[in-house]
Amino acid sequence: MKPIHVGLLGLGTVGGGTLTVLRRNAEEITRRAGREIRVVRAAVRNLDKAEALAGGLPLTTNPFDVVDDPEIDIVVELIGGLEPARELVMQAIANGKHVVTANKHLVAKYGNEIFAAAQAKGVMVTFEAAVAGGIPIIKALREGLTANRIEWLAGIINGTSNFILSEMRDKGAAFDDVLKEAQRLGYAEADPTFDIEGIDAAHKLTILSAIAFGIPMQFERAYTEGISQLTREDVRYAEELGYRIKLLGIARRAENGIELRVHPTLIPERRLIANVDGAMNAVLVKGDAVGPTLYYGAGAGSEPTASAVVADLVDVTRLHTADPHHRVPHLAFQPDQLADTPI
Ligand code: HSE
Repeated sequence: MKPIHVGLLGLGTVGGGTLTVLRRNAEEITRRAGREIRVVRAAVRNLDKAEALAGGLPLTTNPFDVVDDPEIDIVVELIGGLEPARELVMQAIANGKHVVTANKHLVAKYGNEIFAAAQAKGVMVTFEAAVAGGIPIIKALREGLTANRIEWLAGIINGTSNFILSEMRDKGAAFDDVLKEAQRLGYAEADPTFDIEGIDAAHKLTILSAIAFGIPMQFERAYTEGISQLTREDVRYAEELGYRIKLLGIARRAENGIELRVHPTLIPERRLIANVDGAMNAVLVKGDAVGPTLYYGAGAGSEPTASAVVADLVDVTRLHTADPHHRVPHLAFQPDQLADTPI
């Protein structure tokens, strides 16, 4: 069978990891997908910087060369931010291409319109890499737990904040120094305010909640507080009292709807989630049938996030190959079955 053709928008930390994983595990991935997944072009900002990573892959600085290319079946959006990512994704959908994205900001903000457009066009939009890096939490919620009424979920879903809090506790390091290290390691957002003010976690919580509870994406409804006001002393006092401070995203059923909140939380040190350190993420989900479940893994970084991107590529390839006009629910609920808005 002929290869499925993929175009990349962006070849930075995650794009580079995606190429590496696809190349290194090519044989296994081809067997799993049923056909070769071939990246045929990447749009980049800086040709000189990208050339080493590209390893011979044709590059362009015009992203429309990717989204308008009739030979490309799947567009992978890894440029982040709202614009031009939204415009490019909408154009790719209009051109009948499937989209894989790692862009939590985009999905949290414009997910409703993007999924509606994809549904109307009969293409897939997948976003496993947008939440908790390599942990397959979207698939767990949408597929594995689909029999359950979800009661609540809570998680460490920003690797940078967790890395900062861990280093402050373990090494007594200063906030700003650790943030710089997180940037160097490729964990932090282009604008690290999103990490340290809880905004990135709120984007991810919005996405998780939409899938878990069948509510529209309304990131503005989440109460959002980050870790920027915390000091080494706060971290140390918590430790002395037998607690760890973690930035949690929490969504739960309340009397009048779904409550969404992100804030630093004191957790007794004997709890599993209190011992999730570094850039690792963990998400607890309580379903009425299954009870509490816990998902743990690398929440940021090149190859862990690429692991989720490639998983989506394999999924889309399988479904597209089985039926090119297959319409999958992008969320766990049918679009006309979304319930109340979050409170
Ligand atoms: N800046 C994000 C984090 C990257 O630190 O979790 C992964 O989404």
